[in-house]
Amino acid sequence: MLPGEPLLVEGPVTVELPDGRVETSDRMTVAICVCGRSARHPWCDASHRETRPRRPGEE
Ligand code: FES
Repeated sequence: MLPGEPLLVEGPVTVELPDGRVETSDRMTVAICVCGRSARHPWCDASHRETRPRRPGEE
């Protein structure tokens, strides 16, 4: 795992969150958010890429 990147684990995965919710994913590889920015927590939604301002012309 690289700093600022999601934790990639082999699926299926079941995650129990601190509030007691249980989330599951049946994907072969599951990206778990470790940056805290994801709107789909605990799953990564690529929001970790938004850590710096975009340059003109950059997608
Ligand atoms: S690690 Fe990808 S959105 Fe948090």
